[in-house]
Amino acid sequence: MVDHADALVFFGATGDLAYKKIFPSLHSMIRHGRLNMPVIGVAKQGWNLEQFKARAKASLDEHGGADPEALKKLFSLLKYVDGDYKSPETFQELRRTLDGAKHPMHYLAIPPSMFATVGEGLAKSQCNQGARIVVEKPFGRSLASARELNATLREYFPEDAIFRIDHYLGKEPVQSLLYSRFANAVLEPLWNRNYVASVQITMAETMGVQGRGRFYEEAGAIRDVLQNHIMQLIACLAMEPPAGEGEPLRDERAKALTLVRTLTPADVVRGQFAGYLEEKGVAKDSTVETFAAVRLWIDSWRWADVPFYVRVGKCLPVSCTEIIVDFKKPPQRVFREANIGRPNHIRFRVSPEVVLAMGVRVKKIGEALEGTSVELIAQRHPHDEMEPYERLLLDAAAGKADFFAREDQVEEAWRVVDPILGNPTPVEVYAPGTWGPKQAQDLLQQGCTWHDPRDEPDDPDA
Ligand code: BG6
Repeated sequence: MVDHADALVFFGATGDLAYKKIFPSLHSMIRHGRLNMPVIGVAKQGWNLEQFKARAKASLDEHGGADPEALKKLFSLLKYVDGDYKSPETFQELRRTLDGAKHPMHYLAIPPSMFATVGEGLAKSQCNQGARIVVEKPFGRSLASARELNATLREYFPEDAIFRIDHYLGKEPVQSLLYSRFANAVLEPLWNRNYVASVQITMAETMGVQGRGRFYEEAGAIRDVLQNHIMQLIACLAMEPPAGEGEPLRDERAKALTLVRTLTPADVVRGQFAGYLEEKGVAKDSTVETFAAVRLWIDSWRWADVPFYVRVGKCLPVSCTEIIVDFKKPPQRVFREANIGRPNHIRFRVSPEVVLAMGVRVKKIGEALEGTSVELIAQRHPHDEMEPYERLLLDAAAGKADFFAREDQVEEAWRVVDPILGNPTPVEVYAPGTWGPKQAQDLLQQGCTWHDPRDEPDDPDA
């Protein structure tokens, strides 16, 4: 039986992540009756508790508004420790403020370069005893630095006390994808190279870098989303059936990633939207990609020779994350119809709405043996009911690690992208509002095109 956390400590409490994600999640947990432990913010800002509370309120006002009762409760739980992370006094003060809590959960909403300092401070003050730690991406910048970072965390916490957040794993449709895969026997016979022709993942955003030029210069699309969110999606799609919930889920995701072939520059097309170089914090000669398309292969019995095509990018025509599993064509052409349409597919839309649908051909009502493509919608919901951060913080507090990234998964994902980091291929400029460089088409097998999430299937009654 895993112990439930009895205090939530978050470092970087006056920062951006806390403002945008953590306060709104805490508010939502309270509204759902799920938060009953002290919440201790730690930062070096020279603030007092009243200022900290004002920050919490401002965050809620900006993110959907505060419910007066929930705000009152949040205020009653909030505590604040101000101090330098390098100073032992900060941690002694934290220890006092923890007031005997036996299983604190420390959330490091701080740059990874600070992890070692905070880890050491927690260990020296014994605030790491019986505790767990929650960390955010980036989990390193390359395979080597990810290993270093993991080693740093492991100095102060055992692996089963480390919760690495990849918020994609906390999204409803991603969990729903896993659920549908392993709660339906009919999918299993189809879910392999015998029936699947290819898999496509699009993670498109209309926004640019939104003033985060300096951050983006350090990241680029491959580090920012492909190494983490997309690789987790691939693991969920490609994994073998786990023996059950819990650690077997993580084992199978990790195993799936070990079978993904390491990318080479020939498998990638990188793009940069026109205007990126004028963004604040961006070098005038930057070759950082804001778009990447890749072709991945999984060398397993199940997936050999099935291409997984991925494209991610900023300033694209639509904001949508979607997975399309395309099935093979029927082996014989029986009907004389001119347009044999698109073969069957399964669509998992991850955002903005939740959709699980299967594309099939049906005969059009009428005399001719002619058909049209329709989608059977298994699930359609306008949005996620629960924010991924809320779901993941509740899981971490309960010690449930199913939807957190494990050290070996993170390192495997870096191993896959390592050779395409930096500037391995020329970065092609694309116009904002388009689907990136036209060279992305060359990654696809003949006869294949990138799916546009805006294309709705035909209406069978039309
Ligand atoms: C973050 C990236 O991890 O994910 C951002 O740093 C990106 O650049 C974001 O915009 C996308 O998340 P979501 O949940 O909006 O799809």
